Amino acid sequence: MKKPKRYLVTAALPYANGPVHIGHLAGCYLPADIYVRYLRLQGEDVKFICGSDEHGVPITIKARKEGLTPQQVVDTYHHLMKKAFEDFSISFDIYSRTSSPHHHHTASEFFKTLYQKGVFTEEVTQQYYDEQAQQFLADRYIIGTCPKCGFGNAYGDQCENCGSSLNPTDLIEPRSALSGSRPVMRTTRNWYLPLDKLQPAIEHYIETIKDQLKPNVYGQVKAWLQQGLAPRAMTRDLDWGVPVPLEQAKGKVLYVWFDAPIGYISATQELLPDQWQNYWQDPDTALIHFIGKDNIVFHCIIFPAMLMAHGGYVLPANVPANEFLNLEGDKISTSRNWAIWLHEYLTELPGRESELRYVLTSIAPETSDSEFTWKDYQARINNELVAIPGNLANRVLTLMQKYYNGIIPQDICEYTQADELRSATQKAYEEIDRNIRAFKLRNALQEWMDLARFGNKYLTESEPWKLFQENPEKTCEILSNSLVLLGHLAKLMLPFMPRAGQQLLHMLGKSTIEQLHTPISWKSGEQLPKPSLLFRKLEDSEIEPQITRLEHIRQQQATKPTYTLPPLKDLVAYEDFQKLDLRIATVLAAQKLPKADKLLQLTLDTGIDRRTVISGVAQYYQPEQLIGKQVLLLANLAPRKIRGIESHGMILFAEGNSGRLVTLMPTENVENGSPVA
Ligand code: MF3
Ligand code: ZN
Repeated sequence: MKKPKRYLVTAALPYANGPVHIGHLAGCYLPADIYVRYLRLQGEDVKFICGSDEHGVPITIKARKEGLTPQQVVDTYHHLMKKAFEDFSISFDIYSRTSSPHHHHTASEFFKTLYQKGVFTEEVTQQYYDEQAQQFLADRYIIGTCPKCGFGNAYGDQCENCGSSLNPTDLIEPRSALSGSRPVMRTTRNWYLPLDKLQPAIEHYIETIKDQLKPNVYGQVKAWLQQGLAPRAMTRDLDWGVPVPLEQAKGKVLYVWFDAPIGYISATQELLPDQWQNYWQDPDTALIHFIGKDNIVFHCIIFPAMLMAHGGYVLPANVPANEFLNLEGDKISTSRNWAIWLHEYLTELPGRESELRYVLTSIAPETSDSEFTWKDYQARINNELVAIPGNLANRVLTLMQKYYNGIIPQDICEYTQADELRSATQKAYEEIDRNIRAFKLRNALQEWMDLARFGNKYLTESEPWKLFQENPEKTCEILSNSLVLLGHLAKLMLPFMPRAGQQLLHMLGKSTIEQLHTPISWKSGEQLPKPSLLFRKLEDSEIEPQITRLEHIRQQQATKPTYTLPPLKDLVAYEDFQKLDLRIATVLAAQKLPKADKLLQLTLDTGIDRRTVISGVAQYYQPEQLIGKQVLLLANLAPRKIRGIESHGMILFAEGNSGRLVTLMPTENVENGSPVA
C-alpha cells in the first residue's frame, strides 16, 4: 500500500441506548485510540471521528419501556458515553451525534443523490401493521410463539430462548408489542439498495484491499459474498430516525444502517467545515474503520456500496474489526448486567485508568474472543506494570536522588547510550511501529514491556549501588543509560497509557516531547522532581468487591425460577365449580394506586352493577391498555379491603413465566355480565 498523505480514522458510533462497558473499549475504542495516538506522535495527518448512533428500533423500545421519548433516552446516554470516553482518554477529534440537524441534513442529501441517480429499486411488500397503534411494526415489535422451540415470547427477528433467527411471519400467534393486538398484513413501499446488482463492484473493491484485511474480517466478507448479496431496504416504516426526503415516503425514515455510517461524514464536516473533502474525497486519504465483529458486513459491504453508488468518495482502506471480550467466563450482556461499566469503574478503582487500558490491550480480542477476569487484571498490574516499568522508574529515580539529590550531573548529559541499550531501543521502535501499523496492538504493547524488562535486567545486572563508592563514573554511566531508556519508555507508552506516560515524563522532569525518536536529553544542573510511584500495587481488598458483585449477579441468574408448571390440583365436583360466579365485564376506568407499584384500581361495568376491583397487574399493563377492554371477573369473591379500598371481586389473568400476567378476554365482544361456565 502506498503511503497515504492523511488518515481518517473512525470508531463505530455506539448506540445511545446503554452505557459503555469494557468490551466496547477493548474491541473498538481503545485499539482505535492507540493507533491514532501513535500516528499523531509520528507527525502524521490524522483525524479521529466518532459520535452516538441515536436512531434505530432498540432506542424506541428502550424509550417505551421507560416511559420516555427516544430523544430523552439518547440525550442521557450520549452524555454518559461522551464522558466515559473522555475519562479513558479516548482522543476523538470530535464526538458528535446522529440526532443533530446537521446529520439529518447530510444523510438526507446523501439519500437524495442516490435516489436521483436511480440507484434504488422500489419494492412493495407485505408487512405487519398494528391497527390500534396505527403503525407498521418493526421486527422487534412483533412477539409470538417460536416455531422452533415453542417459546411464547420470541421476537420477530429472533427467539432469545433457542437463538434461532426468525422472520416475523414465522411466529405463531403474533401480537404487537405496542398494543398487544394481533397485527394485520398491509402493503408498504420501500427503497432498496440493490446489493445483488452491486456485487461485482463490491467484489472488485474487496480484491483491492484483501491483503490488508485481518483474516477474521476477510473470512466474514468472503462468506457474505459467496452466499450472494440480496437487496436491502434503506427506508423503514418507523417514526424515529431521519425522515425519508421524498413526497411519497411520508411517515418513513432512513434505515439506521444507512444513516449511521454517514454520521462519520457529517461529524467530519462539523469538525472541518472547509477541509472535510480532503479527508473523504482525496484518494491520498486512508479511511480506516475500527469496529466490533458484528459490524463487518455494514462497513465492508453496505457502506462501501453506498459510497460507490454516490461517487466521489474514497472507500475504506481497512476495517480492523475485533472479536468479543468475555467477562469471567460469560458473554458480556447489557440486559443481564453482566459487564464492567466504564462510568462505574473509575469510582470503584479511582486513578486506575491507565491500568485498565494496559490490561485490555494485553488481552484485546484481536484474533479470537478473549476473556477478562479480575484475578488476571490484578496479576497483570502487580506482576507486570508495578514489577517491571514501575520498579525500573522507581529504582533509577531513587538512586538519582540518593547520589545526586536529583540534580543532573554534567556527565549524564554528555554520555551517549551504550550500544546494547541503543540497539534494544531501536528494535523496540521498529517492532512497535510495524505492529501498530498492522493493527497488532497486543504485540506492540508486548514489545514495549520487553524494553522495560530489558532495562530492569540491565540495572539489576550492572548493580550501580555497589559501584558508587569506588567507581562514580561507571555509576553515572549506568544511571545515564537507564534514564535515557526511561525516556524512551515514557514516549513509547503514550499511545497505550497516555496518562501514565505523561506522569513518567513528569517524573523525568519533562512535560512535552519533541519527535518520537529523538532521545530525551537533560541539561547539567536540571532538577528532577521527587520520585513518586508510577504504578500502585493492587491489593486483594480492592478487587474483592468487584468479584463479589459479579458473583451476586451470577447467583441471581442461577436462582431465577426456571418455569415449572404447577401440579394439577385435587379434583372438584361440578357443583363446587358452579359456586363460582364468573362473568364478563368491561373496564370503564383504570388508575394506578399511589405508592403501590403493583396495583391498579379498576371500575367495571358488570352488566348488573358498577364496581371497584383492585388488581395486581400494574407491572404488566398500563391503565390505558385496559380501559374499554372486556375482562373475566370472579364476581362473587367476598369483598376485601386492599390499601383502604374495598375490592369487589377479582379479575382473572393467566400467569406466565416468572409471574407475568396476561388478561383473558372474549375473542368477540359479548354483553356485559354474560356468565362464563
Ligand atoms: N451503533 C452500531 C453498533 O453499536 C455501530 C454503528 S457504526 C456506524 O453496533 F457505522 F453505523 F456508524
Ligand atoms: Zn425458539
